[in-house]
Amino acid sequence: MNSLNKFPEGFLWGGATAANQMEGGFHKGNKGLNIADVLPGGKERLNVLKQPGFDFEIVPGKYYPNHEGIDFYNRYKEDIGLFAEMGFKVYRMSIAWSRIFPDGNEAEPNEEGLAFYDRVFDELHKYGIEPVVTISHYEMPLNLVKEYGGWRSREVIGYFETYVNAIFNRFKDKVKNWMTFNEINSALHFPIMSMGFSIENEENKYQSIFQAFHHQFVASSLAVKACHEIIPDAKIGCMLLSAPIYSYDSNPENVMFALDEERIFNFYCGDVQVRGEYPAYAERFFKKHNISLDIREGDLELIKNHPVDYVGLSYYMSFTQKKDKTGLNMAQGNLFEGVKNPFLQASDWGWEIDPTGLRVILNKLYDRYRVPLFIVENGLGAYDKVEEDGSINDDYRIDYLRSHIKAMAEAIEDGVDLMGFTSWGCIDLVSASTGEFSKRYGFIYVDKHDDGSGTLKRSKKKSFYWYKNVIESNGEKL
Ligand code: BG6
Repeated sequence: MNSLNKFPEGFLWGGATAANQMEGGFHKGNKGLNIADVLPGGKERLNVLKQPGFDFEIVPGKYYPNHEGIDFYNRYKEDIGLFAEMGFKVYRMSIAWSRIFPDGNEAEPNEEGLAFYDRVFDELHKYGIEPVVTISHYEMPLNLVKEYGGWRSREVIGYFETYVNAIFNRFKDKVKNWMTFNEINSALHFPIMSMGFSIENEENKYQSIFQAFHHQFVASSLAVKACHEIIPDAKIGCMLLSAPIYSYDSNPENVMFALDEERIFNFYCGDVQVRGEYPAYAERFFKKHNISLDIREGDLELIKNHPVDYVGLSYYMSFTQKKDKTGLNMAQGNLFEGVKNPFLQASDWGWEIDPTGLRVILNKLYDRYRVPLFIVENGLGAYDKVEEDGSINDDYRIDYLRSHIKAMAEAIEDGVDLMGFTSWGCIDLVSASTGEFSKRYGFIYVDKHDDGSGTLKRSKKKSFYWYKNVIESNGEKL
């Protein structure tokens, strides 16, 4: 396909990050500890995420990469200046809940935390960049985790409501674009990061996770309601980890298996948050897994009356599934695994690269929901090499993004209403799943390494100049 000018005027080009993966300053400005502050770095993190019984403590002498991140807390002016140089129209970021409510359950917000985000939003506006803010991105206050069991507890809904009211009231003139829970559906595989609990041995994992989802759905609707009341000209979306699930072959058994997996993983949360009601297929799934939800009076009405305005999504890869996986090679992926797809190449971390999969999932989501879609994460995690002259020639990243942007253009041509695209990790940051710095996504290189060494100096990669051109030409020059 030639690079066609398929992108509407006002298409929201930009980049995306999350507070816990880049801010650092983990104890500055009265910030409280959050989940990310107790996750170790390196491959050890994946084991923690997979195993039951995590104790959420900081172990003295252990290295915690999120504590310093890339020091955005002190360097935000320089970083935003670089985003502006690339021509960002929007910048997706998150507010660290524990900066605003250090223990999560205070009655009043922490002024120093609010003031920090005031400075960040003002700096963005100086360059005409609109913030797109995720309210909760893998950074629940640790006190809520330890004292309440995270989203297991219904009480947390009230604390979340206090938090969203505080930020909507404070930032109502500065932020018009919001998202509730980052990759809400990712909890199906790893509840630690977004729900704040790990599964104990013998526990009915699905009972706990689906009950916690219900609490988040109620919280999400309360946030939508508050957002519309406090900032009538704002939009608020959900955020789904989106990965089409292919059947391994045309065996109808496998097709049905893939459909079931796709519904529960990709669509269950969106079905509730966008359509405002539990889907028909949920009943059978609940029966099969002995799930009985505690739904209180008024919950379903609230969910029905306050669906989200749009769907934010992350897309990195597709998955292939087969009922019986015996003897098959598996492909590692974004928080879970599938069967290896013989038609696809994988990244350095084993994530299968599939630009057409993006077109597939955009079409599926739009067919299903008919609300605007916003790709708020996509990108390639790769090792970068700094040449002797200081240049970083990340052609592999450019190729990845080019092919995905082409797929977006095709999806728009298919009829999908796409609001924008924010590339993940527009500046190198700590990886969420592995806690590594060496898994780099950025257009901007940060001199920081897996052992914590590095000067934190920023430099522009080849992709920096390429993306600047993409934005300048509204997606025409790829
Ligand atoms: C998404 C998350 O799962 O993917 C981000 O929303 C994360 O927080 C991104 O960083 C890439 O994953 P990873 O594990 O490579 O950092």
